[in-house]
Amino acid sequence: MDINLEIKKRKDSGLFRKRRIVTSPQGAQIDIKGKSFLNFSSNDYLGLANNNKLKLHMVESIKKYGVGSGSSQLMTGHMRPHQLLEKRLSIFFKKEASLIFSSGYHANLAIASTLINKNTVIIQDKLNHASLIDSALLSEGKLVRYRHKDFFHLQKILEKYKKQDLIVMTDGVFSMDGDRAPLREISKICHKYNALLIVDDAHGVGVLGKRGAGLMEELNLEGEIDLLIGTFGKSIGASGAFIAGNENLIEAFIQKARTYIYTTAMLPALANTIVHAIDLIENSNNLRTHICDLVEHYKKLSKKLELYLSDSNNHIQPIIIGGANETVRVSEALYEKNILVSAIRPPTVPKDTSRLRISITASHTKKDITLLLNTIKNIQSGDC
Ligand SMILES: Cc1ncc(COP(=O)(O)O)c(C=O)c1O
Repeated sequence: MDINLEIKKRKDSGLFRKRRIVTSPQGAQIDIKGKSFLNFSSNDYLGLANNNKLKLHMVESIKKYGVGSGSSQLMTGHMRPHQLLEKRLSIFFKKEASLIFSSGYHANLAIASTLINKNTVIIQDKLNHASLIDSALLSEGKLVRYRHKDFFHLQKILEKYKKQDLIVMTDGVFSMDGDRAPLREISKICHKYNALLIVDDAHGVGVLGKRGAGLMEELNLEGEIDLLIGTFGKSIGASGAFIAGNENLIEAFIQKARTYIYTTAMLPALANTIVHAIDLIENSNNLRTHICDLVEHYKKLSKKLELYLSDSNNHIQPIIIGGANETVRVSEALYEKNILVSAIRPPTVPKDTSRLRISITASHTKKDITLLLNTIKNIQSGDC
């Protein structure tokens, strides 16, 4: 492989990825190169990444349990905070058992070695996050994808492969589009075909549902989903992830999941802090209401300014621009105005659907949203 050529091609086609060094804590305002930026690129939806109470819990937990976990969970790395967090997750998400992973990517990959063999067909929404897709690609099973949210298409595929072992996987709230999977219909169809249903609600947890337990809670479907996956790196403000389900399924992951067995356990202090973050989330209805108000303001003002209106009524709002170079141009013009909005390009999203991914968090104000949308309008009209 000619790496230099590959990098040049990426630069020419607007697909080159760059990192920026952030020198402040996370929040609605972050510092880069000594300047403050209004940040619409974060998944810290409830603003917990720099929460004072959680910071104190983290410090106290480090004093009690130290910095590292010392080994993998199956050696000596499974410590009291991990056990407490698993219990807290099971109660919060109303599942029999839960298991902690170092990241959402690890949690999704765990499905490959635990639940999939040569006879398995894994059926996934076309716009699922890369980690769900990779779990199927790295397994021995066959990956088949259905059109985005099209449960009639899903049913056709299930009918075709009904003699095989079936797994259906979907994002809850879609990471790059912000819309929601039609889980009620999907769960009914899965039930009919005896397919195992796995939902990754990384972006719904914390923001949706009365207690913040995500899309399943909002739709009252907790009992209908076989496995729920969520991450701690978004609304929970930390890092790591979990899988929750019935005891037998979770036991299978302990026995077989390569990304659980062959990796160092999460820092104990972090696990302890996440227990407290879940308590905060459960009592953060005011923050969820604030996000809803901001989304309403965003939608109304976008309409008035004749900006792209997505299907999303959630905290993730894409503005589809199309070409990668043009999307980078708008993102960089916003950067010049001290506003951070990531340009999302292929292969993260399909070709010709490059977009600005705007994430609205509880740390924002209506004034922030107004400034963002007016600036985008000015850039698109060529006024700056
Ligand atoms: C739906 C979904 N699942 C999993 C992940 C990966 O989670 P993590 O960042 O914890 O690896 C992401 C990350 O953006 C995601 O959007």
